[in-house]
Amino acid sequence: MHNGEAAPRYQFFDLKPALPDMTAEVLDGLSRASKSIPPKYFYDAEGSRLFDAITRLPEYYLTRIETGILRDNRDRIARLVGTGGCLVEYGSGSSVKSRLVIEACRPAAYVPVDISRDHLEQSARAVFDRYPELAVYPTCADYSVPFELPPPVAALGHLAFFPGSSIGNFEPSAAGDFLRGVAQVVGRAGWLVLGVDTRKDRDILDRAYTDAGGITEQFNRNLLRNINNAVGADFDAQSFRHLAVYNEAAGRIEMYLVAERDQRVSVAGTEVAFAAGERLHTENSYKYSPEAFVEMADRSGFDCADVLLDERAYFMVLMLRAR
Ligand code: AVI
Repeated sequence: MHNGEAAPRYQFFDLKPALPDMTAEVLDGLSRASKSIPPKYFYDAEGSRLFDAITRLPEYYLTRIETGILRDNRDRIARLVGTGGCLVEYGSGSSVKSRLVIEACRPAAYVPVDISRDHLEQSARAVFDRYPELAVYPTCADYSVPFELPPPVAALGHLAFFPGSSIGNFEPSAAGDFLRGVAQVVGRAGWLVLGVDTRKDRDILDRAYTDAGGITEQFNRNLLRNINNAVGADFDAQSFRHLAVYNEAAGRIEMYLVAERDQRVSVAGTEVAFAAGERLHTENSYKYSPEAFVEMADRSGFDCADVLLDERAYFMVLMLRAR
């Protein structure tokens, strides 16, 4: 802006992120001795709808408990991070959780960041309509690597928000790299409010990832339908069953699709053979103790100002400050 002209209160910033080569990534994963597909391919329109249904399941405690922690600690969060800054949301949420942070911290600007343009535009508009005082600058970018914040928020203090324990879907070394990237984006003394699932009894985790109603199974199988549509493949999703196992030593839920019979699948013109009982790995979901996570955050450039927990310590919200 020049001549003292105010920035518009809604502006879309497109950083034109390179889109992943889904065909190459899927074929690479399927060519390995232990076959795998990256979990980011869960989220086509149907996968996002199914994930939304998962977040409302009684067994899937994560969303409910994280929302409760944010609600119960609104004042404490606002006291720590202050008001009038810029809230940078990793992923474009128009969810209850984003609204809680907006209402607690009353930021001057909100920057949702997402690689999916349409979804970003839609959810950013919804936030803009709800909070007329808030400047909204949706930014289309790949947030797994550092990116430039929109110029109008340069002078504000920055608060990044990454809820849902999505960081648990990164391998720990990638989680450390991601945190270093966030520290770079928010700058020195910038904040990160981060939701992370904790280690707990196996039976609670088992129920959360194999719900009685079979929604997680549908979510897992939908990955194959997405590949059929997007890459050109002929997976028979019904001939794979859902399996989630807690690997206690590694502190992670491992999700697989298990072939129920011998079969050959054509994937983008390449034939892939599955033996009956063979596992296709679809996701890891890491769980952390507060101590282990605080240590990793420390190694990645963040001081921990507080760990907010529910009374059973099923989930934590970390208040991290970049050094
Ligand atoms: C998105 N992510 C944090 C979820 C999780 O719990 O790891 C994805 C999920 N997979 C199965 N259920 C939910």
